[in-house]
Amino acid sequence: MDFGSFETLAIETSGGVATVTVNRPEALNALSGKVVEELARVCEVLNQLGGTGTKPATGTGSAGDDGAWPVRGVILTGAGGKAFVAGADIREMTSMNAEQAEFYARSMHAVTLALEAVPVPVIACVDGFALGGGCELALAADFIYASERAQFGQPEVNLGLVPGFGGSVRLQRRVGLGMARELIYTARRIDAHEAHRLGLVNRVFPTREELLAAAAATIREIATKAPTAVALSKRSINQATGRPTAEGLDIEARTFRAAFGTQDMKEGTAAFVEKRTANFPGR
Ligand code: CAA
Repeated sequence: MDFGSFETLAIETSGGVATVTVNRPEALNALSGKVVEELARVCEVLNQLGGTGTKPATGTGSAGDDGAWPVRGVILTGAGGKAFVAGADIREMTSMNAEQAEFYARSMHAVTLALEAVPVPVIACVDGFALGGGCELALAADFIYASERAQFGQPEVNLGLVPGFGGSVRLQRRVGLGMARELIYTARRIDAHEAHRLGLVNRVFPTREELLAAAAATIREIATKAPTAVALSKRSINQATGRPTAEGLDIEARTFRAAFGTQDMKEGTAAFVEKRTANFPGR
């Protein structure tokens, strides 16, 4: 899969796992306008997986490395060993007017929505600071793994700011309204274990190496499943989030129907009946 070249990101693909690293260690990987623009480009490429952009059920090709699913999952992380992402770029913000600030927020909102639309799972691997926009970027991933060194927080009120890249919306959905309010109003930083207790983080690992290895292992496990079914599950969950139960169930019923139109479903159910391992075509 050809991602092109980037100034602020490093991208590596190996065995179906794409690792996207925000690479501005001198600024603790803060989300400058350039990072936002480049993350948007990465999402555009990833959204071609399955052959049809955001419509995985009708994609063509095989689930193998050279088919329509050369990438089966994405690890999102930060370079330098000190931070995942330390937030929006505070230096850049000092020269923005209100209109430019709104554009900055909306551009990053588009990135977070595009990440949620990527038809493969995205795992944020947080080793170090995930503050403000960094925590918000991690929240746009499917789930978060952390190292013991991870620190999470929404420190915007320290700067006279409010969460601007989705924190007021996604944090409450992940940790509940009361805890999201407390974290945002106090700007308090929490460590990996507290983040785990709150449900912000799925799993905590002693080292960065173990963190990245575990995320890759999870993606390889997911890669044994039907690509279209994983993509449709992701879409259904994202579309149902925050909606009334009946609306969510309606989305689920329509997605269930869509799964019945896939070759993957035919192969998966046939393999079960024939007592053999499924070989999913990925469409
Ligand atoms: N933007 C721009 N530069 C940043 C940055 C940021 N968010 N965070 C750190 N840096 C830079 C520092 O300015 C410093 O650069 P120089 O060496 O050129 O001075 C470099 O990264 C290293 O940082 P520190 O020297 O501060 O490192 P530290 O270990 O002493 O502290 C830290 C680490 C606690 C994370 C501290 O850097 C910090 O508090 N950073 C800001 C965190 C923050 O407030 N994030 C929220 C931003 S607002 C936001 O994100 C709004 C939104 O929702 C969209």
